[in-house]
Amino acid sequence: MPEQSASKLVQAQFDEFPYPNVPIEQTVTDTFALFANSYTTACYVRERKVVKPEGKVMLNAGCGSGWETLVLATANPGASFVGVDISPKSLEMARQRFEFHQIADVRFEVADITDLRAVGEQFDFIACNDVLYLLEDPVAGLKGMRQVLKPEGIIRTNVHSLYQRQFIFNMQDAMELLGVMDEPAAKAVPILRELMDALHEGSFVKSHWKGDAIKTTNGILANFLLRSDKGFTVPQVFEMLRQAGLEFISMVNWQQWKLERVLTKPVPYTLRHLKKLSQEELLHFIELIFPNLTRLIDFWCGHPRPSPAPPFTPEEWREGSVQAHPLLLRLNARVAFENAIRDNGPVNINGWPGSEGNIVIDPFSVRWLIDIFGEEPVPVQALAAKALDLMDWTPEEAFNQVVANLKFLEERLVVLLHSPLR
Ligand SMILES: C[S@@+](CC[C@H](N)C(=O)[O-])C[C@H]1O[C@@H](n2cnc3c(N)ncnc32)[C@H](O)[C@@H]1O
Repeated sequence: MPEQSASKLVQAQFDEFPYPNVPIEQTVTDTFALFANSYTTACYVRERKVVKPEGKVMLNAGCGSGWETLVLATANPGASFVGVDISPKSLEMARQRFEFHQIADVRFEVADITDLRAVGEQFDFIACNDVLYLLEDPVAGLKGMRQVLKPEGIIRTNVHSLYQRQFIFNMQDAMELLGVMDEPAAKAVPILRELMDALHEGSFVKSHWKGDAIKTTNGILANFLLRSDKGFTVPQVFEMLRQAGLEFISMVNWQQWKLERVLTKPVPYTLRHLKKLSQEELLHFIELIFPNLTRLIDFWCGHPRPSPAPPFTPEEWREGSVQAHPLLLRLNARVAFENAIRDNGPVNINGWPGSEGNIVIDPFSVRWLIDIFGEEPVPVQALAAKALDLMDWTPEEAFNQVVANLKFLEERLVVLLHSPLR
């Protein structure tokens, strides 16, 4: 199929059903989406520096109905936004959404992400969710974004996982054989439903025909009848990045890609050999042994850098200041700390996107850690002094205990460290 008609088909699909079909008036509460689209998160992961979004210029490439742009605007107060898409009908909905929420610093334009020069700006942050796998040439999409990315800029983007989504690709190919993929939605959706309902329970495809969401018209169109959908492996993603002149920074859901999460016991032979693998090979190993890990290979990337940010030194911990991740301030996490102090209990942080599991902060640590929820970062030394007042410790013991706790939380981005030395 020539490039032109493939993207016309995609446009037609999204003109008919702008995606996602989230009501205009809905506000954003999805913690993972806010975390993943936060410029502060992305910069911290790459640089171990705390950078505020105020005054930054952000692009939502393939913004659809503007829901993702609203996530971006909610996650990054004080920034300005441009949303582009090839579907004019989707952009109409996006404009209505922003009018409703009275967010002024935004504009929406029809543009193809493979050539964004006409947008006429360079961006600090580009969010491009659920778009690249629809392109005939995803490398062209990455190159298009790279063209308008500032030298220090960061892109958050993703592609479908080939392994996780195999059942959907099978069904799309089967529908292609029947000619259903070229039919209008009103005809194609009932045909797909009828076939799925008739399938033998033992079929691989049928075993995934579960839950209400995937059986709705929108669920079917976004999956089994999604035109031009493609799946990728980790080596393919790394190769596309190389071809586009971009550097992989990290998986957005990096905690899910940790070996500790996919293996439940020590496996000495395997671990010895895994140590010799590159980052790309290790991620590939994980997707091979845990193919159902995640629907998306979801990552941050940017212009190549000479070297990655080094880990914080002991001196940086001694001289640094800490603050809670801005999303925790927004979620009013301080109230949970106040309640825990009142009840002399712990704080449970559940479902935090930076953590592989729930985090429990003991009743004693809650009392000194509450200071991280202020407007300004607090010196680590000040937290250690407060801990010293609460316990019968030497100053050195208090400092070491506080830093050990902070390191655990910093690794999970609950706490961000400002180092005067970087
Ligand atoms: C699955 S939707 C995702 C929308 C939005 N990014 C989100 O996550 O909510 C894919 C969107 O990408 C748009 N799209 C597809 N190919 C494109 C291209 N080459 N340039 C710009 N937008 C494109 C479609 O029109 C559609 O609105």
